[in-house]
Amino acid sequence: MTNEQINKIMELKKEKNAVIMAHYYAPEEVQKIADATGDSFYLAKAAKASDADVIIFCGVGFMGESAKILCPDKKVLMPDLEADCPMAHMVKEGKIAEMRARYEDLAVVCYINSTAELKCQSDVCVTSSNAVQIVRALPNKNIFFIPDRNLGRYVAEQVPEKNIILNDGCCPIHNDLSAEELKEAKALHPEALVLSHPECGDDVLALSDYIGSTAGIIDFAGKSEAKEFIIGTEDGVLHRLMQDNPDKQFYFPKTRPRCRDMKLNTLEKILHVLETEENEVHIPEEVRPEALLPLDRMLEYTK
Ligand code: 13P
Ligand code: SF4
Repeated sequence: MTNEQINKIMELKKEKNAVIMAHYYAPEEVQKIADATGDSFYLAKAAKASDADVIIFCGVGFMGESAKILCPDKKVLMPDLEADCPMAHMVKEGKIAEMRARYEDLAVVCYINSTAELKCQSDVCVTSSNAVQIVRALPNKNIFFIPDRNLGRYVAEQVPEKNIILNDGCCPIHNDLSAEELKEAKALHPEALVLSHPECGDDVLALSDYIGSTAGIIDFAGKSEAKEFIIGTEDGVLHRLMQDNPDKQFYFPKTRPRCRDMKLNTLEKILHVLETEENEVHIPEEVRPEALLPLDRMLEYTK
């Protein structure tokens, strides 16, 4: 993209009182021009707090939807409406009702990586940065954790006093991260600490020195005395890790985890939606109040 086109993005942003928000997995050139970058929790809060009229959300479908649910009066545009998180759909029809019928005191805890329809059927949303805290604080003993079985299992280990029922969904990117390749990376860099996202499988988490959200990983690397790290999450985080820590080294397993959907957010598409205001995110009026409830509860629990 030329400087002229980047200038055009900046001009249009000003003219339309628009902000660009980008997840840490968005391409580096997008993160570079974004007004806010963060993990899914930070971005949901930033969208709510923003006084912009237009939000260009460079993430995947559930993130744009969450921003629109939290800010119905703002125009939320996505550079590419095809950017979707496959895991967000991974709860079988009828499963939530089946669990509610089985356990009287059930709380349905919905990882924010889920569709608005799934949020509507849930009691509280969580993200990877607050799931343990919120599940621990819930009064319910029985928890149906959707859709991610890996994050659910990790939470269950941290909060053993709860009966956490897992759902058969996962992030294909994190779930495919290979423990064997992680061991190979550790053998090559024996001094490096392993920092992983809780969406990874239990064999990967067992090899990790720190487990947390993308923001947690970035924060940990910044504060740590260590100089080398092996990163167990999507490779978009590298931009911020290197920017914050020019004196430190970051490595990935041989097969670098890359989310195809996050990488659909390009500068060209940002310019296009700023010009045309196409790709607006809409939430049906009858869905919004019910989907808002679990998101508001999450914000309430983390105040
Ligand atoms: P964060 O909660 O760290 O933003 O992760 C979101 C995500 O999509 C992980 O794959
Ligand atoms: Fe979804 Fe996984 Fe991509 Fe995150 S990395 S958006 S969980 S597919």
